[in-house]
Amino acid sequence: MTASTEIEIPDLLVQNLRAANHVAVLTGAGISAESGVPTFREAQTGLWAQYDPQELATPQAFRRNPKLVWEWYAWRRELVGRATPNPGHAALVELAAVVPKFTLITQNVDGLHQRAGSENVVCLHGNIAETKCYDHNHLVPHWPESDRVPPICPICGSLLRPNVVWFGENLPVAALNTAVAAAESCDLFFTIGTSALVQPAASLPLRAAERGATVVEVNPQPTPLTRFADFALTGPAGQVLPALLDRLRV
Ligand code: OAD
Repeated sequence: MTASTEIEIPDLLVQNLRAANHVAVLTGAGISAESGVPTFREAQTGLWAQYDPQELATPQAFRRNPKLVWEWYAWRRELVGRATPNPGHAALVELAAVVPKFTLITQNVDGLHQRAGSENVVCLHGNIAETKCYDHNHLVPHWPESDRVPPICPICGSLLRPNVVWFGENLPVAALNTAVAAAESCDLFFTIGTSALVQPAASLPLRAAERGATVVEVNPQPTPLTRFADFALTGPAGQVLPALLDRLRV
């Protein structure tokens, strides 16, 4: 017996999925947990249990101590660079191939969906592999070597920072618009591996539900969203999603 066959997938969900025209998926840190990437809010292992987001993930923190913030993100960049996509990421690549329309929205900055082969990923919180400048948002793939930490923008001379959304910053407008449009037009909305606590991402499944979509949650733990979900699949995404794909194939 494989791990995935132990997960119970309701027949009605399989029927809904077969009939769906547009499937939208929102992912959070939990989908990358089985790749060894830490989540944020889990009690012992979450990043925010060990580090203070106000010291590391706000524009004020960067202005106060740019070196600390740069080095913390450099550590995380290296960590996700070493991680590899897991069966949960792979199952979403497969799902995209079998439904008429598919929109993958992620809060993750780790790039693992893209590395698994997902296309047109809607990145709500940026991408940790990218670097931009603080003053003008110039995206900077390379910069001259120097001892300065953080390095400076070769275009305008301001400090470089990761291209991620910090607390208090706006989400990229185009990505948010695409995500909202998908939530409002899909038939089936999956929320996978997210605590559903950070806005505006957390409101996407509710918008989908309001427009009549079936909402499916995949998470080993209950979240504030669970009571609104039509189906709550309790388990790790790396097992639940392959099990769902197995059911679709038969
Ligand atoms: P959280 O750390 O808040 O939530 C992770 C969720 O994943 C929890 O509900 C876990 O129960 C669940 N989980 C853990 N392992 C899982 C697994 N194997 N399969 C499925 N689910 C699993 O992370 P997010 O909801 O992604 O923002 O956090 C949202 C945002 O808050 C992040 O994008 C980040 C953070 O501050 C920014 O960096 C802007």
